[in-house]
Amino acid sequence: MQTSNKKYDNISVALHWIIGIGILALAGLELFRGEFPKGHFIREGLKPIHQPVGTLLFALIIVRVTWRLLLAKVPTESHKFDLAGIAAKLVHLALYALMIGLPLLGLVYVFGNDKVIDFGLFSLALPLKASLGGFAKSARWWHETLGIAMFSLALLHAAAALGHHYILKDGLLNKMRFAKNSDANDTDFDPPLVAAE
Ligand code: HEM
Ligand code: HEM
Repeated sequence: MQTSNKKYDNISVALHWIIGIGILALAGLELFRGEFPKGHFIREGLKPIHQPVGTLLFALIIVRVTWRLLLAKVPTESHKFDLAGIAAKLVHLALYALMIGLPLLGLVYVFGNDKVIDFGLFSLALPLKASLGGFAKSARWWHETLGIAMFSLALLHAAAALGHHYILKDGLLNKMRFAKNSDANDTDFDPPLVAAE
């Protein structure tokens, strides 16, 4: 019997939510922080969070992309080739590209200035000023500009997903829910999303 996935596997689901919420919080907090003048206790108090948390998220993003390319189960009845389906795929691709490129640009800025990332218990240092110093300033500019673009795109993606589920009532969010048991992930006999009369 041919089976079809209706959902992402549980590891993909966990990584999607941890990284997704992490990115929204990290970018939102950094933009919020930037609203306060230099020296303000909120601006200075939140400053130590961004770089270590962004670096940890980057490590998780590498795990996610590797998992997605090699082992992930993705819904087989993916988007149809209509305009909305192609747009959704392009947004997903752009989000993946930004998830990789954005933290890399941040790291180029930090290490290209021979700065360290302070994790509290230890620091990460990779002095690359000699080789990356020339790119550091523009890397920071691109990081900040693309950071705003990514925050906006992630919000658009989240709003579209919630709109599909709660307004169009097509059950889209069920693809990103944890399966209760391994069988629920892979069956053609899943109960319909809307109960038949
Ligand atoms: C409330 C917030 C969010 C909701 C409700 C949500 C919902 C979803 C849903 C339902 C899908 C499956 C779409 C499909 O296969 O047709 C999905 C996929 C995806 N989401 Fe989100 N999402 C949210 C936040 C985010 C954020 C902040 C990011 C930023 C990185 C993100 C990145 C992605 C990516 C890259 C995919 C494609 C997954 C793949 O095929 O590998 N999501 N999301
Ligand atoms: C997915 C992870 C990340 C996201 C979504 C993100 C997003 C952002 C955003 C939205 C801003 C504010 C832009 C503005 O004020 O216009 C910002 C600033 C900044 N980010 Fe990131 N970032 C991430 C990871 C990193 C990493 C890994 C580093 C370096 C280790 C980094 C270093 C910086 C720096 C240096 C700034 C300028 C403000 C400051 O001095 O703190 N970011 N980032």
